[in-house]
Amino acid sequence: CEKQERRPSRQRLLVVANRLPVSAIRRGEDSWSLEMSAGGLVTALLGIKEFEARWIGWAGVNVPDEIGQKALTRALAEKRCIPVFLDEEIVHQYYNGYCNNILWPLFHYLALPQEDRLATTRSFQSQFAAYKKANQMFANVVNEYYEEGDVVWVHDYHLMFLPKCLKDYNSKIKVGWFLHTPFPSSEIHRTLPSRSELLRSVLAADLVGFHTYDYARHFVSACTRILGLEGTPEGVEDQGRLTRVAAFPIGIDSDRFIRALDVPQVQEHIKELKERFAGRKVMLGVDRLDMIKGIPQKILAFEKFLEENPTWRDKVVLLQIAVPTRTDVPEYQKLTSQVHEIVGRINGRFGTLTAVPIHHLDRSLDFYALCALYAVTDIALVTSLRDGMNLVSYEFVACQDAKRGVLILSEFAGAAQSLGAGAILVNPWNITEVANSIAQALNMPSEEREKRHKHNFLHVTTHTAQEWAETFVSELNDTVIEAQLRTRQ
Ligand code: ADP
Ligand code: G6P
Repeated sequence: CEKQERRPSRQRLLVVANRLPVSAIRRGEDSWSLEMSAGGLVTALLGIKEFEARWIGWAGVNVPDEIGQKALTRALAEKRCIPVFLDEEIVHQYYNGYCNNILWPLFHYLALPQEDRLATTRSFQSQFAAYKKANQMFANVVNEYYEEGDVVWVHDYHLMFLPKCLKDYNSKIKVGWFLHTPFPSSEIHRTLPSRSELLRSVLAADLVGFHTYDYARHFVSACTRILGLEGTPEGVEDQGRLTRVAAFPIGIDSDRFIRALDVPQVQEHIKELKERFAGRKVMLGVDRLDMIKGIPQKILAFEKFLEENPTWRDKVVLLQIAVPTRTDVPEYQKLTSQVHEIVGRINGRFGTLTAVPIHHLDRSLDFYALCALYAVTDIALVTSLRDGMNLVSYEFVACQDAKRGVLILSEFAGAAQSLGAGAILVNPWNITEVANSIAQALNMPSEEREKRHKHNFLHVTTHTAQEWAETFVSELNDTVIEAQLRTRQ
């Protein structure tokens, strides 16, 4: 109660993430249009409503000139967003290089091909220097906007150095850091040349959060094994200072999806899709075109299913919607051509003059089109090789209260821990197992579908993004107050 009274009713929250919820597209010297960014981080953060939130991040474009920067700052201010301007070289070394070619695959347990690994080893130092420089640039913008009492909530692997930059500037700033990816086993983290510096920087935060208990446990054991610090049930202790570490499983704004299903435009889309795919069961994959999503494995499993179940060949269709992402990173370019090649081969093998088994779209869908697709789907296929949580699985469940379709879910997605009892869990590396689970889903009796769906729907509608954000910020406030009380004693 004492803790509650000290909090302002609507606390100012500075949300800092590499990616702003909107990305900018230049239309003229001083004119910009803004469109929604894709990705789980943005989806979850849009669900935060309780706070007076400001967003600080990169708008996804290079803006070298002052006129452009001023105009974009004005346009973003209307969305409560504050830009961090990063030049091309920094983006190349920090975002494409250190973040997405080193940390991202490492945190998802994916090895780089040998020649890329050698090239990465050579460029490591300059990329890490750019990473620190970029984090300092974010810190400068935060410092400019920070007011006493604000909570600063830093997100994801792009900004592991930021908690330290902020605390160096002002040790009183309340800093939380949340990771949206898995945190790997300490044996994996140990291979990173900058392993200790990154851990120490994160530990400068007051509260460190992960999607699952396992990720939190891996982080604590990396701190004990690599830094020799003490792990306690509350977190990590260093010379009497405690950094609280805990699991805060994320959710979605489920009401937004459920409400959308009643919008006439969505109803119209649903009608069109039902007519278009009449007589066929619809299977759906929605992913960023990323190697962690296991898209080639998913498509190969579907091929295996078609091979082994000839009677289903003209009765199912797989819609794979894959929005291109991080297109300047070579690994992502290779993935795009690999997926196209596999889809082309399978459609050639099983297609007819009037129908193909796989519809593959390399693009983003707008929110209403996405909701309609989720609603008409019979089976959703989420086959991530590793995934922090995976919100697509939550979105599918939220839109399925009428249909009660089946979710096939990778055991390597964080969501397996929350939706595992309602989904069919699979090892995405085992395409025979995934193919068999497709057959199981197609033949599942309606009572079983009903039971599984109810379990998942209850979870998705009670553990929302809003609840996640409130729990994290409240824990951060409490952690800081407790630390102050401890130092006074
Ligand atoms: P990640 O965070 O790795 O991108 P998630 O599954 O947690 O994975 O979140 C992905 C988010 O991006 C979801 O909100 C999903 O709706 C959105 N998304 C993914 N692919 C598309 C697409 N092709 N069109 C529109 N939105 C997409
Ligand atoms: C994941 C990451 C986010 C990132 C998103 C999209 O969800 O955890 O931090 O924003 O992917 O990737 P991008 O590189 O386009 O921001």
